Amino acid sequence: MSESKILRFPWGTKDDAQVVIIHFGSKSTPLIAQLCREIGLMSQIVKAQDLPAYWGGRVIKPKFVILSGGDQSVYDPGALSMPDDLYRSMAEYSTVLGICYGAQLLAKLAGGKVEKAARAEFGLVKVKAKGFGQYRGGEAIMNHRDEITELPQGWKTVGSTDRCQYALVGNNNVWAVQFHPEMDHTHAGHSILKHLAFTRARCSQDYRFDPEEFVQQAAEWIELTAPPGAVLCGLSGGVDSSVAFTIAHESSVSKRLRGIYVDTGFFREGETEEVRGYFGDERVTYVDASSDFYDVVEAIPYPVEGKDTDREYKYYEQVRKAIGGEFIKTFLSVAQNSDQAPGSLIQGTNYSDIIESETGLKSHHNVGGLPDKLGVSIIEPLAGLYKFEIRELARCLDLPREVVHRQPFPGPGLAIRTWGRLTRDDAQPLRRANRILEEVMRKHYPDPEKRPCQYYVATAKLPSTGLVGDSRVIGYALWVRMVTAQQRESYSTLGVFHPTWEFQEELTHRLVTEVTMPDGTPFVRVAYEITGKPPSTTEPH
Ligand code: XMP
Repeated sequence: MSESKILRFPWGTKDDAQVVIIHFGSKSTPLIAQLCREIGLMSQIVKAQDLPAYWGGRVIKPKFVILSGGDQSVYDPGALSMPDDLYRSMAEYSTVLGICYGAQLLAKLAGGKVEKAARAEFGLVKVKAKGFGQYRGGEAIMNHRDEITELPQGWKTVGSTDRCQYALVGNNNVWAVQFHPEMDHTHAGHSILKHLAFTRARCSQDYRFDPEEFVQQAAEWIELTAPPGAVLCGLSGGVDSSVAFTIAHESSVSKRLRGIYVDTGFFREGETEEVRGYFGDERVTYVDASSDFYDVVEAIPYPVEGKDTDREYKYYEQVRKAIGGEFIKTFLSVAQNSDQAPGSLIQGTNYSDIIESETGLKSHHNVGGLPDKLGVSIIEPLAGLYKFEIRELARCLDLPREVVHRQPFPGPGLAIRTWGRLTRDDAQPLRRANRILEEVMRKHYPDPEKRPCQYYVATAKLPSTGLVGDSRVIGYALWVRMVTAQQRESYSTLGVFHPTWEFQEELTHRLVTEVTMPDGTPFVRVAYEITGKPPSTTEPH
């Protein structure tokens, strides 16, 4: 079978952009690119390891260069750096901003000193700053163990925190910021970038997002790109796949377009019916494969008790893999049994998915092995967009409001929202509890924009004493998690959603009265989690 070709609609990034972001390994590099686009600039991300090849032998003079953070120490032998002459040429021709590790690296290259800090600095801190363009200081996210202890000659200090004297420092066109302007919880981070990009580097705005123009151009691109044969699309009801599917439907490939929806049995109760209501039966094949998924999950051996505290994590990694594998198998059998041989697969992969997988942050669950097995071209019309832009497209395409604002849902679904050995018996209370949460949410928060960005009920099978009628019983507990994101929806940091008391009362009442295990074991406790991310991740595993 020939190797699958990935075709990505080019949008929002370009070679030889005015802004080059050098990636030193930080998880938030995609957020730097996102911030650039928010202020109207395309950018290009170059891995630090690829710098000599990228710059070598070419005259490249980006107006603005940003060095990302990273988790090494600049003074360690072998730490990622850049050749001296490259640094000098950058400092001469470009405006340069280093963030965290990037800041320390710039300070070192310019002749300053970087050392291990007496105490690491993490989380939200207060920056006091003199004016830097419109930037006047405020709360900021810090995450560092090393610090600049001696400034290079000629550098001055613009911002400090109680613990970090050199929080925002630099000179002329080289600037170093120890905190993270790109992170959601940093106040006015964009004003630092704006000042450097427009006032100092004199970049001109070259990025603007117009949803209507995007839909038209992406539809034309799909027409030109899709090879002969059926055009398949894995449709989950999530905003990304729904938008990709709808744009393809607006193009002339619509006659050979087929959506495939696979019910894994780990969805909320009524989910399939809801998606079916949105997309109808004509263009989409719905498959209920829940029984196969339950068999596959139940075949995973649960680790025996022991000292290995990682065993639960490892078990759920296997659950993730098993569900991913079964999804591919089911999808393939539907695709191969359709009238027309498949020629391409449309996916809703977005820009963060790509950057996160290219920079090793997470494996690409969208691609997940399917294309190679199908031997088709992969078409990714949304490859240049972020989630909030895809939501704008969904609005422009008149998709139902519930789809426009739909919360992200993990590939393994509700299967990773419990503890202990997972069996088919766990699916039913999970599905029911999460349907109840959805109903109560829609009733108390009819405006989807007022809802948490992600919310779910997990089953915690911790034997708990309760009173049912007049009898003491041993039941289990339910665990409610509801988190909020900032407008940019990066999901790297999340806050806690504070529901109204009426919401909590109604939800708790419905959960304890309507949810039971198939063997009749009741749920006698409801707990509301109030940790943000960090330190707690969204999912329990
Ligand atoms: P955490 O739990 O790390 O999750 O805060 C961040 C985001 O990723 C989703 N997530 C997954 N998505 N397969 C997926 O497709 C997975 O195995 C998986 N695990 C977590 C999570 O729901 C949240 O949106």
